[in-house]
Amino acid sequence: MNELKHLAIIMDGNGRWAKQRGLSRTKGHEKGAEVVREITTYCANHPEIKTLTLYAFSTENWKRPKMEVNFLMKLLERYLKNEETTYMKNEVKFETIGNLEPFSPSLKKAIKSLKEKTKNNKKLTQIIALNYGAQDEIVRAVNKLCKEKKEITIDTLNDALDMPYPIDLLIRTSGEQRISNFLLWQIAYAELFFTKTLWPDFTSTELEQIIQNYKKRERRFGGI
Ligand code: FPP
Repeated sequence: MNELKHLAIIMDGNGRWAKQRGLSRTKGHEKGAEVVREITTYCANHPEIKTLTLYAFSTENWKRPKMEVNFLMKLLERYLKNEETTYMKNEVKFETIGNLEPFSPSLKKAIKSLKEKTKNNKKLTQIIALNYGAQDEIVRAVNKLCKEKKEITIDTLNDALDMPYPIDLLIRTSGEQRISNFLLWQIAYAELFFTKTLWPDFTSTELEQIIQNYKKRERRFGGI
């Protein structure tokens, strides 16, 4: 049976969930944040999962209306501040990938503070991708190696990435079957799972079913 150490999720469908209910898109993001809490808690108490990486804001998401971008930033800041007890209770360490440079000083402060407070938690590492794009990550890593005059090999490039750990299982919600510039290097041998469920409707029960499906798959990593 396949081990599941690193789970990654493209949380998609917040806007459609809200539209179906005649609500503003922001309501979908609010419900989506509650699902982040449920899924993180489930993963922290799962016997195998050690890392959960979530795609919250891509390098391309800046193209959205200013009002939605601002709302997402505020929601994230509120979440990081309000959920500190959930991180501590479930022993979850918080980390990020992506370039944090463009974020507001108050969001950067909330990120830094939660990283510091949770750094010794051991049950799960939750990594939130913020202003993250895999192409941007790879370019930054290559530039870093060039600047340090280091040879580019699979190992040196891997270690220069924001995320040096391979993904075992990548789930995308909402029925779209694409990767959208998420962890392109790290999913080299990941198992992919696409569900039609919109992110705000996603539950730990469905995640458990997906994990059971993953367990039964045959992973060969290019061998036979
Ligand atoms: C994709 O749905 C979702 C996002 C771009 C934002 C993800 C944010 C959250 C789940 C909530 C906050 C996150 C944290 C970590 C607290 P979409 O808006 O593209 O949906 P659509 O495709 O139906 O329009």
